[in-house]
Amino acid sequence: MILPSILLLVAHTLGANVECGVRPLYDSRTRHSRIIGGQEAEVGEFPWQVSIREMNHHLCGGSIISEWWILTVAHCFYSEISPKELTVIVGTNDLTTSSPTELEVSSIIRHKNFQRHNMDNDIALLLLATPIKFNDLTVPICLPFQPTPSSWHDCWVAGWGITNLVNKTSSKTDLMKAPMHIIDWKECTKIFTKLTTNMLCAAYGNETYDACQGDSGGPLVCNTEPGKKWYQVGIISWGKSCGEKGVPGIYTVLSNYTLWIQKIAQIEGKPLGVKRLRDSGKKKTRGRSHSSKCQALGYPKRCLLSCLLSCVLLRALSNWE
Ligand SMILES: *[C@@H]1O[C@H](CO)[C@@H](O)[C@H](O)[C@H]1NC(C)=O
Ligand SMILES: *[C@@H]1O[C@H](CO)[C@@H](O)[C@H](O)[C@H]1NC(C)=O
Ligand SMILES: *[C@@H]1O[C@H](CO)[C@@H](O)[C@H](O)[C@H]1NC(C)=O
Repeated sequence: MILPSILLLVAHTLGANVECGVRPLYDSRTRHSRIIGGQEAEVGEFPWQVSIREMNHHLCGGSIISEWWILTVAHCFYSEISPKELTVIVGTNDLTTSSPTELEVSSIIRHKNFQRHNMDNDIALLLLATPIKFNDLTVPICLPFQPTPSSWHDCWVAGWGITNLVNKTSSKTDLMKAPMHIIDWKECTKIFTKLTTNMLCAAYGNETYDACQGDSGGPLVCNTEPGKKWYQVGIISWGKSCGEKGVPGIYTVLSNYTLWIQKIAQIEGKPLGVKRLRDSGKKKTRGRSHSSKCQALGYPKRCLLSCLLSCVLLRALSNWE
């Protein structure tokens, strides 16, 4: 009788006072590599990563910053889109999982100074209709602290896509990851002359990755020391071309917006970092999501993007130079 109550207590504590930027499951076990080509994310490795869906199709990536809030980019949402058309899947790497935790969205808040022509202020928040219940697979990411460190130890980006281009019947949509390093801003303006100070450039840590951009809206996360907490440093925003080696991707600089995020959260009555209630988060069970239309587009096989790029990105090519 004692054991179950202890377990209950532990479970309760986790829900009530969740820490950001930790990976309880991933860091607690010995890793055996089931990763193919070093790029498939492991279960629980990016527990803050979410898939934002429009009419049940993957639209953009995003990240959990609190039980009520999802952080993403403004360019994913055209002005007529209604929050009712959106849902957010949390707590899974596999989007075809039979019963994902899927939450409804109650409002979309784009930065009012978002500029579509140069992508400045490409940031948006989604307010959920019900709060997220945290667990080992669902954890908020930490917002970057001030002043931001001059260098980060380790940075990663992750996103969803089609993993098997050859055998489409077996293709599933697993979360893929790629190591990144942040590039000096001045250096990057040589490649991207339109770069604003709200943008940062990052490239694949390993030049051997012939990769394209990840899902727009997904987080660029870094830590300061091995084994320490993870912070979101950027949001995947735009890029130049797919698969061109040495051409970095462009990210929204999150540290420029932490006050904006806090202000919006306050105004909407769901401030960050409040004591988390164990409310009944709505869990909807949906059938297997049908593999996206993207497959028909036929990515170049070499492109890791096969994995990282979503259809939407292709559809939204106008956002890319
Ligand atoms: C494709 O994958 C499915 C399921 O993994 C398998 O049954 C089928 O034989 C594969 N087809 C080809 C052409 O490899
Ligand atoms: C990264 O590059 C190094 C050499 O620079 C190579 O040994 C290693 O296998 C590469 N890693 C991946 C995952 O491609
Ligand atoms: C945004 O961040 C960049 C670099 O981190 C900094 O140079 C710039 O002044 C910041 N802009 C604002 C508006 O905070």
